[in-house]
Amino acid sequence: MTSVISDEKIPNNVDLSSDRRLQRALEAWQPKFIDWWKQMGPVGWQGHDIYLRTAISVETDGWAHFDYVKMPDYRWGIFLEPKQDGRVHGFGDNAGQPVWDEVPGEFRNMLRRLVVTQGDTEPASVEQQRDLGATAPSLYDLRNLFQVNVEEGRHLWAMVYLLHTYFGRDGREEAEELLQRRSGDADKPRILGTFNEPTNHWLSFFMFTMFTDRDGKYQLASLAESGFDPLARTCRFMLTEEAHHMFVGESGVQRIVKRAAELMKQGNGDVRAQGGIDLPTIQKYLNFWYTLSLDLFGGEVSSNAADAFASGLKGRFKEDRYDEHKLIGSTFAMDVMRDGKVVHEDVPMRNALNEVLRTEYIKDCQRGVDRWNKTIKDEGIDFELKLPDHKFHRQIGMWAEHAFTTDGQLIDRASWTAQAGGWLPNQADEDFVKSLMKPVYEPGKMASWIAPPIKGINGLPEKFEYVRM
Ligand SMILES: [Fe+2]
Ligand SMILES: [Fe+2]
Repeated sequence: MTSVISDEKIPNNVDLSSDRRLQRALEAWQPKFIDWWKQMGPVGWQGHDIYLRTAISVETDGWAHFDYVKMPDYRWGIFLEPKQDGRVHGFGDNAGQPVWDEVPGEFRNMLRRLVVTQGDTEPASVEQQRDLGATAPSLYDLRNLFQVNVEEGRHLWAMVYLLHTYFGRDGREEAEELLQRRSGDADKPRILGTFNEPTNHWLSFFMFTMFTDRDGKYQLASLAESGFDPLARTCRFMLTEEAHHMFVGESGVQRIVKRAAELMKQGNGDVRAQGGIDLPTIQKYLNFWYTLSLDLFGGEVSSNAADAFASGLKGRFKEDRYDEHKLIGSTFAMDVMRDGKVVHEDVPMRNALNEVLRTEYIKDCQRGVDRWNKTIKDEGIDFELKLPDHKFHRQIGMWAEHAFTTDGQLIDRASWTAQAGGWLPNQADEDFVKSLMKPVYEPGKMASWIAPPIKGINGLPEKFEYVRM
């Protein structure tokens, strides 16, 4: 065993110490991962001690171990939820049959594509967020950023583990390519469009972790139902970490909203003039990141989604909630475009599964927006944030070729373009938000545009030195 690969360096529950083949694969891949992390990971903070959570086992007392660590020394581990004896396919054509422990030959390409597409988002988001450490609104937030970053790094490890262990040579090649694509790069971009958008200030970061990480939750949850058992078990464990990312996003926006509402009641009520981000601007960033994230669910009517379900590779969100798991002959009522008009129509359920998942996601987003609106109301302010219609500002799927208002009214492209600056962040908004992004690195202090968190991390006070300066 070499110095880079050991149970001590790579906490795991996959018996790494006796798996010579996996050790060899990781020995080749791990140094490239570290090079990627140093080159594309958080800029400027690689030598600092950060108060981070590390998963050292899957047990309740082990998956959230807190201590100071320098990010390149983070113990990226490999964890799968423990195997359930006798688990069977929960859906699709093989429902009721024993799950697979090896890749089924006929579905190998589809499965590899699912793993690679999920895997690609993990390093992509680290790249998108790499400059944010220069402008954090507090040490608490700075630490949360790095926590999200190292865990996305671990999620990459999780997908690379599957590629190395179950896909042989082409799996190893895919694992290399995950480190070669770059977010936003013209020649070698990340696979999904949303992950090529810059997340270059903290309002976008919080919207990203609220809406885009939440897409991740729904993708992981539907892969957690997979009949390919190692994928299901891997995704189940990833979901425990994902919850924190969405917490960072939802509570981050909530604190910005709270600050805006407070400033509306102070001075002359001009939020921007007092160093805050006004609610209409927050609405625009919500519109932007929410609609980019809707695109991640794919086309509304999709034969790929039908195939992934039929073959037992990708299920619905919490498949257990449903009575029927084969979905032959059932339909889903949804909006579709017919002869230039939006109509509600029944679509064969298997082909509608992207839309089914997107619908669950929208409900979840709405619950978060409701909590933001409660904050505004509690401050005594009359203003409501809203999720725009699902057809607004779409770039993937059947709505992409048409233009819709935030209320879902079909309009011509020229009128849409004329109004876009009122719906989505324009250059002036972007310049203004960026002008507020000044680092605040004194323990317990907050930037002018965000309220303090309700509590600190791991029971520690808000003024704790989460990053040692
Ligand atoms: Fe992730
Ligand atoms: Fe995440």
